[in-house]
Amino acid sequence: MPSGSISYEVHGSQVDISSEDGLVCVTVWKDDIIHVFRPLQPKRYGSKAVTGVTPEQAEPVVCEEGDAVVIRTPSLMVKVYDGLFMDFYRADGTLLCADYRKERQIRSVISPRMQKLLAEEGHDISRLLERNYPVQTIKCMDGDEKFYGLGDKTGFLNKRNYEYENWNTDDPHAHTDAYKALYKSVPFLITLKSQGVFGLFFDNTFRSHINLGKENRNYFYYGAEGGDLDYYFIGGNNMPEVVSNYTYLTGRTPLPQLWTLGYHQSRWGYESAQDVREVAAKFRSLKIPCDTIHFDLDYMDGFRVFTWNEGDFGAPGRLLEELARDGFKAVPIIDPGVKREPGYDMYDEGVKEGYFVKSPDGEIYVNVVWPGEAVYPDFGSPDVRAWWGGKQKYLTDLGFKGVWNDMNEPASFRGELPDDIVFTDEDGPSSHAAMHNCYGHLMSQATYEGLKRADGKRPFVITRACYAGTQKYSTVWTGDNQSLWAHLAMAVPQLCNLGLSGFAFAGTDVGGFGADTTPELLCRWVQVGAFSPLFRNHSPKNTKRQEPWQFDEETLAINRKYIELRYRLLPYFYDLFFEGEKTGYPVLRPLVFHYENDPETWNNNGEFLVGENLLVAPVLEQGATKKSVYLPEGTWYDFFTGKAFAGGQYHLVDAPLDVCPLFAKEGSLIPTYEVMQYVGERPYDTLKMLVFPGDGQYVHYRDNGVDFAYRDGASDRYVFTRSGGNVDVKIDRNGYEKYKKIEYIMIGT
Ligand code: NOJ
Repeated sequence: MPSGSISYEVHGSQVDISSEDGLVCVTVWKDDIIHVFRPLQPKRYGSKAVTGVTPEQAEPVVCEEGDAVVIRTPSLMVKVYDGLFMDFYRADGTLLCADYRKERQIRSVISPRMQKLLAEEGHDISRLLERNYPVQTIKCMDGDEKFYGLGDKTGFLNKRNYEYENWNTDDPHAHTDAYKALYKSVPFLITLKSQGVFGLFFDNTFRSHINLGKENRNYFYYGAEGGDLDYYFIGGNNMPEVVSNYTYLTGRTPLPQLWTLGYHQSRWGYESAQDVREVAAKFRSLKIPCDTIHFDLDYMDGFRVFTWNEGDFGAPGRLLEELARDGFKAVPIIDPGVKREPGYDMYDEGVKEGYFVKSPDGEIYVNVVWPGEAVYPDFGSPDVRAWWGGKQKYLTDLGFKGVWNDMNEPASFRGELPDDIVFTDEDGPSSHAAMHNCYGHLMSQATYEGLKRADGKRPFVITRACYAGTQKYSTVWTGDNQSLWAHLAMAVPQLCNLGLSGFAFAGTDVGGFGADTTPELLCRWVQVGAFSPLFRNHSPKNTKRQEPWQFDEETLAINRKYIELRYRLLPYFYDLFFEGEKTGYPVLRPLVFHYENDPETWNNNGEFLVGENLLVAPVLEQGATKKSVYLPEGTWYDFFTGKAFAGGQYHLVDAPLDVCPLFAKEGSLIPTYEVMQYVGERPYDTLKMLVFPGDGQYVHYRDNGVDFAYRDGASDRYVFTRSGGNVDVKIDRNGYEKYKKIEYIMIGT
């Protein structure tokens, strides 16, 4: 027994440590994942993120050393002291993360007089003042920390010196760096410092706050407004291992259908079948590849979910059949808000079964969204998820191929839902305060499971609101950005951090959603979009149209060039998803992911990697025709010209409007296909391998691109090895046609 009042008990992989300050349960999930749970509430909130995994039967070595209880695994060591302070070390004794032993230094920067004035102006003072939270942990900062992750937060790649809030928020104004919260709550933080890299995942769905050295440079803190102190310390030898461990816990982005990786066109403004037909015909006549057309609100009858507007869109099924004949896949928007209207089947069924959230007085809670007065499905209930999931069949029967979930923060036009609205959490009552941040997550789960039941294919779900772990159900987009250069620039760190936070399948609205795009902005955005996992152009009714042909010949040609490049690179993207399902590595990665020891990558906001082999350095500034590009160690080759560039330094490269600087790493073997107008236009029977100088190896996968047979081994593997001047391929076939031809295109030799 260590001195002081601290005592412990070991139960397999869990060590319960008690002191005068309470109880902390430390569980070794894996040698390099440690769960810390401090119960602060009478009821335990089940995790929404960590589902379907249980601790590996790791057997920690526990002993007392001085005044600490010490828990050792082959990779990590945790010391727990009186006061329940905890310090995390690598097994070799290097301190990675220590609890801060003092109180936070909260200084109110708003004088009482100013507070009064702000309150008169309508501000919620309680949200402006710094305070301690009922659930809180404060960690020491040494001074050289860089912070990454946190989902879709605004601003730059490295979050140090900023503070953020986790509260899913639909704010239609232009998102600036001052925004603390957007649509997603992903409380996963990666810390990189000279001693190493580690992750912290705070698994609590209540409104929470993360302050990364902004309040005081000696510490960072996490504080939640309810729930328990429930977090994971995630180790790993490098950033990829930390991300892999995090996604081991919260789930990995499943391999999507191949067509979802093509180009998507959307507009909140296709108001009739005729509109859609014209857009579709234009893609085909102009020979701009396109797989998917999104149907925003107008396809519904009066914005009632799971209905069809026959007046403007014709007989159900007809338009979608026509589109399908021409290779287009249609994806409809679905909001959670169900129109409050007796006689409407969704409303009647939900009322009868008690499927909508209620006010504390037991009445169904009503707010306003697109259909007018609306009620909110209670997605925390398994019955409601099954009911909602079953409704997806209505959509697939119509001919839709995926589903786009929107407004699921949940958004509401008549003020935010009060905290005490009664929601269900699996088998018991809960509150809006507890369930808000996982509402979109649970809606996505219902949609994913329903779509899978409906057609057995890999479900294509897009969602706006998320919690940690939503990646296993849905792809995401970053919501209502605007056609602003600042938002194009923000897209890069935002997508990088989403990738580090487990969201391998993510994109921004290409061209910008709100405000009017310009030809130049659209050209530069399509260059980012072509390398984003989700590649969708979207805009609303009150803005200039921004399909590729809406401006001039040059803009059209540049759009086509990058959309075609995306179609050539489809097998490369697909391979990254295939690998990502096993490793959790994102498709789009910041440079720091692979080069964490190189200081030039730590704050690189203007470049990204697609996989390990391609480096994209898009122009993100109006008028610029040159780009200062940092290339990490090694030799890199201009993708288009084959010119060699030395790594470990900056290069000023030409980037006229039609050029997005793109580099392949030495030893790269990049698989490409011929350009099709859509996936499935013809069989992909030729694989063209782009071979860049240097020795290397590459694994390419092939399967049916549609269903789950690959999980039973039905996928072919092509292992390419380049050594000296030769490329050799070993093929392991498990059921698919061999390519008729594999061509090798030597570049930069
Ligand atoms: C908000 C979404 O973010 C946007 O993409 C959509 O077009 C509108 N809702 C209308 O459905």
